[in-house]
Amino acid sequence: MLTTDSGFTINTLGAKVGAEIIGADLRKHLSAAAFAEIEDTFYRYSVVVIRDQELTTKELVEFSRLFGTLQINVRSKTKTKDADIRIMPDEQEAIYISNVKKDGKFMGSTDAGRYWHSDLCYEQIPSKMTLLHAIEIPEKNGVVYGATKFADVAAAYDALSRTMKNRLEGLVAANSFRHMWQRKADDFGTRMKLGDEELAKLPEDAIHPVVRVHPVTGQKCIYICDGYTNRILGMPEDESDQLLSELFAHMAKREFRYQHEWSLNDLLMWDNCAVQHKANFDYDPSLRRLMQRCTVMGDAIT
Ligand code: SIN
Repeated sequence: MLTTDSGFTINTLGAKVGAEIIGADLRKHLSAAAFAEIEDTFYRYSVVVIRDQELTTKELVEFSRLFGTLQINVRSKTKTKDADIRIMPDEQEAIYISNVKKDGKFMGSTDAGRYWHSDLCYEQIPSKMTLLHAIEIPEKNGVVYGATKFADVAAAYDALSRTMKNRLEGLVAANSFRHMWQRKADDFGTRMKLGDEELAKLPEDAIHPVVRVHPVTGQKCIYICDGYTNRILGMPEDESDQLLSELFAHMAKREFRYQHEWSLNDLLMWDNCAVQHKANFDYDPSLRRLMQRCTVMGDAIT
């Protein structure tokens, strides 16, 4: 346990990844020093929860903006047929992630986090950070469900053999929102399968390195993910498929994991270069889960 100069208590929650901050009130003005303590904790632990934050969407957006430019999620800016079955928050820079229905429409995305992924890696400039705020969490008989799992992809990179590290050097891969969309439509039926015309409205695949150097910590991180990466370029398709499967299985190993068990009003922040994440769909659909989310744009990947 550590008490900062601003009076926050910081506790580690995992072996390397995962920490909590207690004693902050994000609705009030944060001094530059207090913000620096939060940012520092974020880069040190990669997944950080600030406890007890009763935030409106506007307040979430305002706090998130302190970290940089917020991204408008493709589902807010693209008018596919699917948009008609969802409610979006008033603030364009936020989205809901939820199984809750209001007036017959889902409040936001019902199937976010089905596969291991890094948020918005399908964009040319992906997210450096995601902020997810728990408004309602699924609970039954005192047990909370719907945890979010994290994989430490810096540790996963470090654990690769020298031969594999050499093999990955300089490789680039396609990260595809379109691929993810059609796969989820097939696997879960919660979104409509799109035809060519609608698919063309979605972002084109983004080509990113298979291994990224973290812009702040300098650590090397594996940057392909099951959710979006469908092809390593410059090699035959079967070789790419085989290498991707091997790396996906490696990153998902328990030794790299941290699992966030939600409490109401948690504001969870994670580093989309240092970790990947996946949601636990282990609760009955009648149990309500309502989250609001912002993502902060990172730097162009060089
Ligand atoms: C996400 O993938 O951003 C959502 C994670 C979650 O709902 O736990």
